[in-house]
Amino acid sequence: MWGSATSSHQVEGGNTNNDWWEWESEAGRIRDGSRSADAAGWWHGKAEDDLSLAAGLGQNAHRFSIEWSRIEPEPGRYDVGALARYAEILAHARRCGLVRMVTLYHFTLPLWAARAGGWLNRALPQRFASFVAHAAEHLGEHVDLWATINEPNVLAIMAYGGSRWPPGHGRLGAALRAQATLLEAHALAVTALRRTTPAIPAGLVLNMPLIEPARPAHPLDRAVAWLQDWIFSGSILGALESGRLALPLARRGRGVDGLVRSFDWLGLNYYGRLAAKFDPLSPQLAEHVQQPTVRSPWIDWGEPCPRGLTEQLLRLSRHRVPLYVTENGVYDNDDATRPQFLVDHVRAVLDARERGADVRGYFHWSLVDNFEWTEGWSTRFGLIEVDPASGRRTPRRSAAVYADICRNGGPPDRMD
Ligand code: FCB
Repeated sequence: MWGSATSSHQVEGGNTNNDWWEWESEAGRIRDGSRSADAAGWWHGKAEDDLSLAAGLGQNAHRFSIEWSRIEPEPGRYDVGALARYAEILAHARRCGLVRMVTLYHFTLPLWAARAGGWLNRALPQRFASFVAHAAEHLGEHVDLWATINEPNVLAIMAYGGSRWPPGHGRLGAALRAQATLLEAHALAVTALRRTTPAIPAGLVLNMPLIEPARPAHPLDRAVAWLQDWIFSGSILGALESGRLALPLARRGRGVDGLVRSFDWLGLNYYGRLAAKFDPLSPQLAEHVQQPTVRSPWIDWGEPCPRGLTEQLLRLSRHRVPLYVTENGVYDNDDATRPQFLVDHVRAVLDARERGADVRGYFHWSLVDNFEWTEGWSTRFGLIEVDPASGRRTPRRSAAVYADICRNGGPPDRMD
């Protein structure tokens, strides 16, 4: 599959009933002061136009997310109109020849769930599973692949360990508790999906940067790189394998019902490499010092490093399920580096396949420019440029490069 990815809050517009909408309305939360507002206009018709464009550009798959706060605006009350609109978008995608991967939770919580403690509330996984069962019953016929939760590891660290994403607890302990609850939610969601839509493969999406010691021979750099990778990725992969939450997610190896074999496939979101340099004064015990790196004043996506994509795919392949690159892309407002980034990363995926990883698809982040969380509209990831004021679309050069890749099943040899 050759596709691209989006998420509900980032492209739909008018998602007034979730925690991000509220967060955006507070001064200073979004770096450039922008709001998601109408976003890329998908809810009111632009979804169809953009999906048609994607298909015209040779893509044959799309990864969307559906918005819990629209479908279940109050606990236990489901919105028939919202479900109908999703059915319409997904049916259109099918007509365009796009395989549909649907994520059930991509960072945004209904306000009622956020106000009840968000992912620190141990009762939320059960509520999430009820929503998932309802969505699956009503939308299942329009879905080819389910993804339960997008990047539980990023969400836990950013929203509960940090202070820039809602609810902004700013404590590592809160992040670890949220992480454990998110894994419980994933396990319950898969149980619900297997009951409701047993024929649709369900998976989990993790963000796994390559974290390496800045000074390869330095014992403290090595230790801190290992520790950061363990907290961010390793502990979760271990829990998926054993069904138990180990340190630091839980103290005594707490078991999570249904976690073992809770995925028919795994998704990797990969942006780059981080070089960890021990720093006793930093709360994370390390600074990230890789150069060059792709960063804004608030976020560091790391050094573009295709080798890391191959390595993380090979690491995931130990779980013996099909793999997807569910996101890969670069913040590059001028599209200066994206074309080469794309070619190099697709080659890295093909390399992983040659070395035995069962990678079934690549989804570029993103199809269109969209509302990039705390970065607002200041950082552009789209293959297609969007002017949020006029709604005008302009495919970037990288859209044409990717179209060649999609049609050829990989970068043509001349592409350097
Ligand atoms: C990922 C998110 C996605 C987008 C990209 C740039 O971590 O899943 O929503 O923000 O980063």
